[in-house]
Amino acid sequence: MQEKSPETAELRYGEKSLELPVLKGTAGDTALDIRSLRKLTGMVAFDPGFANTASCASRICYIDGEKGQLFYRGYPVEYLAENHEFVEVAYLLVHGQLPDPDERARFSELLNRHSLIHEDMQHFFRNYPEGAHPMAILSAMVVSLSTFYPELEASEDEEIDITVTRLLSKLRTIAAFSYKKSVGEAFVYPSYKLKYCENLLNMMFSSSVVDYQLDPVVVRTLDRVLTLHADHGQNCSTTTVRMVGSAGANLYASVAAGICALWGNLHGGANQSVIEMLERIAADGGNVERAIEAAKSGDRARRLMGFGHRVYKTYDPRARVAKKLYHDLARHLNIDDPLHEIALRLEEKALSDPYFTERGLYPNIDFYTGLIFRAMGIPREMFTVMFALGRLPGWIAHWLEQHADPEKRIARPRQLYLGPEPRPSQSSFSS
Ligand code: ACO
Repeated sequence: MQEKSPETAELRYGEKSLELPVLKGTAGDTALDIRSLRKLTGMVAFDPGFANTASCASRICYIDGEKGQLFYRGYPVEYLAENHEFVEVAYLLVHGQLPDPDERARFSELLNRHSLIHEDMQHFFRNYPEGAHPMAILSAMVVSLSTFYPELEASEDEEIDITVTRLLSKLRTIAAFSYKKSVGEAFVYPSYKLKYCENLLNMMFSSSVVDYQLDPVVVRTLDRVLTLHADHGQNCSTTTVRMVGSAGANLYASVAAGICALWGNLHGGANQSVIEMLERIAADGGNVERAIEAAKSGDRARRLMGFGHRVYKTYDPRARVAKKLYHDLARHLNIDDPLHEIALRLEEKALSDPYFTERGLYPNIDFYTGLIFRAMGIPREMFTVMFALGRLPGWIAHWLEQHADPEKRIARPRQLYLGPEPRPSQSSFSS
């Protein structure tokens, strides 16, 4: 239950006046509790895009958008990316604390045990057309998991860990198989000898003719990128997971819906759009000034992709880490990607332009992650799949939190109706 503060706020409308409770979060958030608004005044709150609406109370993730800070269960994301592996971060998000060595070993063991997908599911891949977007395949395969594996029913830790590791591990296998399908190569099975990101890269890039050599720097960079993506409060896809889950839908169905929301290019799909934008600028002779002027025109289709955020009004802390990760990776791999130079110039120009600074438009996580994936040889259609793999622990943690919440209610917003007034009509059904 959220903390009720002694403060209240008074709302007056015409003759009516209403005292609204004020709720305080643990890190300084303040919320006006309007649950009684409609009952007492007949009015509803109008807030398109939920920009000012806290749809739930949560203990998983805290974002300070003004200071550019992000915490998972109280730990700064930079600290976790530097000192912990993605699998530990996943455990942290789900359980609320980092695993001890025994818990870590057991979690890894379960990840290995559940990494295969049912042989029958492999037939599904064959029927997708050539060029099918892997995000569509990913979502369809995740909802299909619910036809092969039991729903999560018990709230025992044991049962939760089995379901969580099953989904985490199988999503990675499905992601790699989607890639293999898109390039027309045979599937490579997961290996119990490899760790989470090693396995993913090996399943994607090794084949009967290629002996893919795992590079520890590439592996560690990918692991850190997944950690950067692991949770982000009530973003569009997580809210979708909660919304679908609120109707009583199972975890697989809820996550499949979240994957679809993430695919949109205003959300996780932006990492693919950033690279496409940088390529357009390169084809235009590297003219970043023209791209910036176009972005300022107000035309949504010409926005700077990878810029701006609903919550951050300063530099996204994840983008800062991703920028450094790319820099170090490119140096290690001896890569000189011309799109990187364009990205740096674009950022510099935008951040010295009052249009962007006055609106608080800074690079977000997607601005540099596309370059990282590209340097690893991951094709652009897979970028958002990588994001989904990273975000999965957050989706699961939110689904579980909502599932266990005694105050949970089905998500059912109101609307402000602007259609025709009731028209004269007769029906034998009306009494
Ligand atoms: N380029 C140019 N102008 C922008 C951009 C941009 N990328 N983003 C916002 N603006 C402008 C808007 O035109 C608006 O200007 P106005 O006040 O003159 O009308 C103002 O900034 C506020 O924009 P909103 O659309 O109200 O911001 P909102 O919070 O609704 O949208 C969003 C946030 C969707 C991220 C937006 O900034 C955007 O479209 N960015 C590009 C897509 C992107 O990078 N998405 C990834 C986000 S991070 C993630 O989901 C993982």
